[in-house]
Amino acid sequence: MSVSLLGRSLLTLLDYSPEEIQYLLDLSKKVKNEAKTGRVFSRFTGKTLALLFEKRSTRTRCAFETAFGEEGGHPVFLSTADIQLGGKESLEDTARVLGRMFSAIQFRGFKQETAEILSKYSNIPVYNGLTDLYHPTQALADFLTLRENFGELKGKKLCYIGDGRNNVANSLMIISSKLGVHFTIIAPAQLNPDDALKRRCEEIAKSSGAVITVSPDKNSIEGADAVYTDVWISMGEEDKKEERIRLLSPYQVNQTLMEKTGKKESIFLHCLPAVRNQEVTDEVLDGPQSRAWDEAENRKHTIKAVMLATLIKEP
Ligand code: CP
Ligand code: NVA
Repeated sequence: MSVSLLGRSLLTLLDYSPEEIQYLLDLSKKVKNEAKTGRVFSRFTGKTLALLFEKRSTRTRCAFETAFGEEGGHPVFLSTADIQLGGKESLEDTARVLGRMFSAIQFRGFKQETAEILSKYSNIPVYNGLTDLYHPTQALADFLTLRENFGELKGKKLCYIGDGRNNVANSLMIISSKLGVHFTIIAPAQLNPDDALKRRCEEIAKSSGAVITVSPDKNSIEGADAVYTDVWISMGEEDKKEERIRLLSPYQVNQTLMEKTGKKESIFLHCLPAVRNQEVTDEVLDGPQSRAWDEAENRKHTIKAVMLATLIKEP
């Protein structure tokens, strides 16, 4: 079956079929191999990309900006200090105007609804570069990293430990349920994923064979092929700092916890940025099991693949 994503937005991986996700991962691998040869391509020549940021970013901004620019495209960085995003001018009108000037929009911010409105009214592809709810381009990079380490992923066990209700955890649960990866969230009850999203993922998982588990018990890490954590306090939740540290201190990823997987070959993942020695110790992040730096590099290759697939006829 041939897959075409031309003209599509990527707002959440819930909108993508398993075949479409596999296609993006295959294309990411191809793009990464191309990058290693040093050959220069100009596939985005004549195209423009609006990069809208309500929240800070290192990896996502740099990935979009370099991936697009190095192939001849023109990325334009616009923070909320630069343009109206639902302030004086309505969001719908901003979207209409951007749609007349750009080939695509990347949005990073608070509400998922903002990404949806941008997509609806601009009529050009919109990429979710992180909202409070989802971080789909991160999940693609994470799964490319998993594929590089394990090959076929069906039946592998990915264990996410920490704030089980944040954007990264949500997107990992979605992609795991689509691709048949057993996904375990280890978190205190107060930080469990949204029930409706969990039920939706369980429904999706029926076709892929994935098992979704949520548990407060750290022993559930046993058998994990990959252990994943993220910051305890996501952007925009700074007022929750004390409560989060209290709830999540027992859930730090350290060497003792890594050993509980019972698998020497298990790997450690983190979307970064990391608060060192809070959610993960230096020993694990800098240790031999860590793939966090490959994962960061893979943001660029996967984001380039998403833009190629949605903007170019035969990428
Ligand atoms: N992982 C990630 O999204 O990093 P940035 O916040 O630096 O973009
Ligand atoms: N959950 C984190 C991810 C950062 C890439 C946040 O939203 O801040």
